[in-house]
Amino acid sequence: MATECLDKQKTIDLRKKHIGPSCKVFFSHDPIKIIRAKGQYMYDEKGERYLDCINNVAHVGHSHPDVVRAASQQMELLNTNSRFLHDNLVVYAQRLQATLPDKLSVCYFVNSGSEANDLALRLAWQYTGHKDVITLNNAYHGHVSSLIDISPYKFHQLSDAEHHKQFVHVAPSPDIYRGKYRADHPDPATAYSDEVRDIISRAHERGGKIAAFIAESLQSCGGQVIPPAGYFQKVAAHVRQAGGVVIADEVQVGFGRVGSHFWGFQLQGADFVPDIVTMGKPIGNGHPMSCVVTSREVAQAFMSSGMEYFNTFGGNPVSCAIGLAVLDVLQNEDLQGNALRVGGHLTRLLGKLKEKHPLVGDVRGHGFFVGVELVRDRVKLTPATAEAQEVIYKLKEEHILLSADGPHRNVLKFKPPMCFSREDAELVVERIHLILSDIEKALNMHMPDQVHFDRGCKRKVSFSDNLPECHSVRHRGAGNEPIRVYN
Ligand SMILES: Cc1ncc(COP(=O)(O)O)c(C=O)c1O
Repeated sequence: MATECLDKQKTIDLRKKHIGPSCKVFFSHDPIKIIRAKGQYMYDEKGERYLDCINNVAHVGHSHPDVVRAASQQMELLNTNSRFLHDNLVVYAQRLQATLPDKLSVCYFVNSGSEANDLALRLAWQYTGHKDVITLNNAYHGHVSSLIDISPYKFHQLSDAEHHKQFVHVAPSPDIYRGKYRADHPDPATAYSDEVRDIISRAHERGGKIAAFIAESLQSCGGQVIPPAGYFQKVAAHVRQAGGVVIADEVQVGFGRVGSHFWGFQLQGADFVPDIVTMGKPIGNGHPMSCVVTSREVAQAFMSSGMEYFNTFGGNPVSCAIGLAVLDVLQNEDLQGNALRVGGHLTRLLGKLKEKHPLVGDVRGHGFFVGVELVRDRVKLTPATAEAQEVIYKLKEEHILLSADGPHRNVLKFKPPMCFSREDAELVVERIHLILSDIEKALNMHMPDQVHFDRGCKRKVSFSDNLPECHSVRHRGAGNEPIRVYN
């Protein structure tokens, strides 16, 4: 049984003293100290249990014994870099390849999603000889400099307009609920992909050349966005016509999370195959590992630069042993099937909430990738940002961990470990139902301006007094209005 070695206040004090202040904790006004976890449950220092609906890293469940065993057994034998021959590396690459279309056959192992996307950009630049990159609005692709440049989710937080680089082009997010072309549009896939085509034309007029289009197969931080079917095929045609490649970021959504398929991009149909796929978070179930997979042609071009690629930790025997164990557990416990069944049940139950609660504007999802968008007005789609925060804080009081994301922080975001059960789904939906009922009752949804914030960040609320302290205006909405952020 794990124990804590410092009391909670001491942990907080040391964190404040020695950890960079921009590294945030969940629920910063009353953070949770977790000392052990198992399956879909996390336990704090008092042994209190929390249901984890947000941890897409502990993919096959926290501390899965098979994964732990694989790690410790390999650690006892050997861990070293990939300049020595080792079977784990090649066997794992072969197993991974078997989940992908044949064209994607060459792997580079790295240690984080950011490293994977940074390498993907280098591959694209080298293969195409071009520089320009098209990214989607609200996208997040990682924390290193090259990726902040292509992550509007991050660079929009900076007041400094210079952070928008000339070679980066931002296409509208293919969001058919709140985006530029909505569900009532006759052909949103074509309309959104035409935006990419037009961006390419404008880049060409300015002398730019397209190296890559990068997108998550389903946008996660961007608000659990599900692109219309056929969108990626049409985008890929425009991008390839311009000599560029398509990078699918599967860091959050890959590895069976969407239930019906192993990879998110496969939801678009078998006729869409990206040129480069990046993966991360779930691949090592918490162990830092990630991977870039591409075609032989792209890999050859990277080789022809003459520069060796070396990564000290990427693809080491321990990481690959863990990766193999994760794939085995996924298969042996039919966790992709569980995502399909339980995720479908969860989405159906949440869909019923839409019938009862005016705050629920949209429910969308595939498997265990589910979003519930809260709005104050279903016609104007006014984001219910404070209400979404209220929901996640109230859930936390009930020991259920959920997050709110998207450009307005009004999308409840489900991405639980893949062992999440039917009972877990029913519990969380029931609790959300009760919390929404309280908020709507207090607000009287016909008078939405009962909830607002004044300029000094003081609340004028008539319902709960448990809203967290307002920290800062760090985000801008579609109309450039400030959005206050709670941690
Ligand atoms: C879609 C996506 N890509 C890339 C990354 C970066 O991964 P990491 O934090 O492992 O560097 C993240 C992290 O949140 C992500 O969500």
